[in-house]
Amino acid sequence: MSVSGPDFTTLWVSRISRNRLSLVLVAPTLLLLVLLLFFPPTGSEGGALLQFIGRFHPIAVHLPIALILLVPVLELVGRTQQFSYLQASVPFVLGVALLTALAASLLGWCLARNGGYSGPLVTQHLWGGFFVVVISSLCLGLCGREGRAARLYPIALAASIGLVGFTGYRGGQLSLGEDHLTEYMPGTLRKVLLVSRSSAGRATGGAATFYGVRIQPIFAGHCISCHGPSKQRAGLRLDSYAALMRGGKHGVVIKPGDARGSDLFRRITLPPSHDDFMPKEAKQPLSGDQIGLIEMWIAAGASKTQPDLMTGPGPQPVTVAAEVRFAEIDYAAVAKKRAAVDAALIELQKRFPNILEYESRGSADILLNASLLGPRFADEDLAALAPLQDHIVTADFSRTAITDRSAPAIAAMKRLRVLRLMDTKTSDVTVQSLTTLDQLESLSVFGTKITPAALPALARLTKLQHLYAGETAISSTRSLPESLKNKIVRE
Ligand code: HEC
Repeated sequence: MSVSGPDFTTLWVSRISRNRLSLVLVAPTLLLLVLLLFFPPTGSEGGALLQFIGRFHPIAVHLPIALILLVPVLELVGRTQQFSYLQASVPFVLGVALLTALAASLLGWCLARNGGYSGPLVTQHLWGGFFVVVISSLCLGLCGREGRAARLYPIALAASIGLVGFTGYRGGQLSLGEDHLTEYMPGTLRKVLLVSRSSAGRATGGAATFYGVRIQPIFAGHCISCHGPSKQRAGLRLDSYAALMRGGKHGVVIKPGDARGSDLFRRITLPPSHDDFMPKEAKQPLSGDQIGLIEMWIAAGASKTQPDLMTGPGPQPVTVAAEVRFAEIDYAAVAKKRAAVDAALIELQKRFPNILEYESRGSADILLNASLLGPRFADEDLAALAPLQDHIVTADFSRTAITDRSAPAIAAMKRLRVLRLMDTKTSDVTVQSLTTLDQLESLSVFGTKITPAALPALARLTKLQHLYAGETAISSTRSLPESLKNKIVRE
């Protein structure tokens, strides 16, 4: 650009407004820096308002990307005589790019903070956005200057384009999966470019087990982009057996022996338009074969070590289901155990369809899922289940209308291993009466009025492995009894 005539004036004017723009942007840039340094992503979902605002990040982010990539085009084409006027627009384009990059980064932080993100991908993506802001303001400061600045300018411009590419790639990995660019790459191109299959999708379950060979690869292929090392939507990870069995923020998602009662199975078999359907966000649903394998695996006890009995590449559900599920069932013995409870169960199943069933074909233990009735299930209904109290091993009262008046009825279900009171009106009174439940392994008090006063009672449950206490007064308490410390799930 020549520094004479009218050009000089434009340049001078644009330099003044450039300086003003930089001044205006100092505060929000510092704000972004502070947010990144001191308020990194929490890894779990929350903060509805921040998430609402953050969801505009993907829309906003295209502006700075396009504008920054436009700058070298303007600079290069502007060198020709015919299009020399294009160069004059560079400061303006860079200015808008800078503004929108800053806005997109702040929106991105809103999304990352509470959107269930954590891990290196999201951190690098966030910092990438920050440095795009920094380097585009540098470009803005350098463009159109003389001397040393003029030599630095192309370098800064190249760096800003590199950064935009890097940040965009990380963003793509966050939304589409770590290997999103190579996942569907044709085999020949893969060979030419020496791209190997991503390790992100590799099984972590052991080579010869049914879980490792048949089940883990399904999760790896369809779920870990949102439930894996870099993102844990709903606090759930599906990249290892231990994490899978620990479950998500609402409790366990696999109930060994009971596929239909397992939240994970329920979600993959819903109609795809349903809100709870997994995989979410219009991802390819699991195939019938994959669903069949998962059902079979859960029904057979969701074992980590069960060997892979199948031979050959394709799934052969029928034979394995038969082998795993029905082997060694002594029906006469089962019938004997059930004799005491059969009649009462059938009667109550008529009154409460679908919420009561035997745990498996070989058992007289009963699963109760009152959450299906929601607020239609209240204290009187629970009282009516008394004839089954010695047989119920899993009871889900989530979102039902039960209150502390049901405490004695629950305390009488002495064989309970799993109890969910999520989002009910029960309080410390109920929890304090649960000390009779010496088999209890998993308890969800998510979203209840429980307070730290109930902790001593909980500490006495010797078999308790998981305590889901998100959104309660104890989720943030610091003085936890020692025995509860590594059992509590606070989200
Ligand atoms: C595109 C992102 C995405 C993918 C892919 C995905 N999920 Fe999810 N998943 C979510 C979100 C978001 C939630 C929380 C919202 C909700 O409960 O609906 C969730 C929640 C869940 C929950 C409930 C956890 C709890 O405690 O509330 C289960 C179970 C689950 N997913 C299983 C799966 C399985 C199995 C797959 C693979 C077949 C899968 N998801 C794939 C985004 C995803």
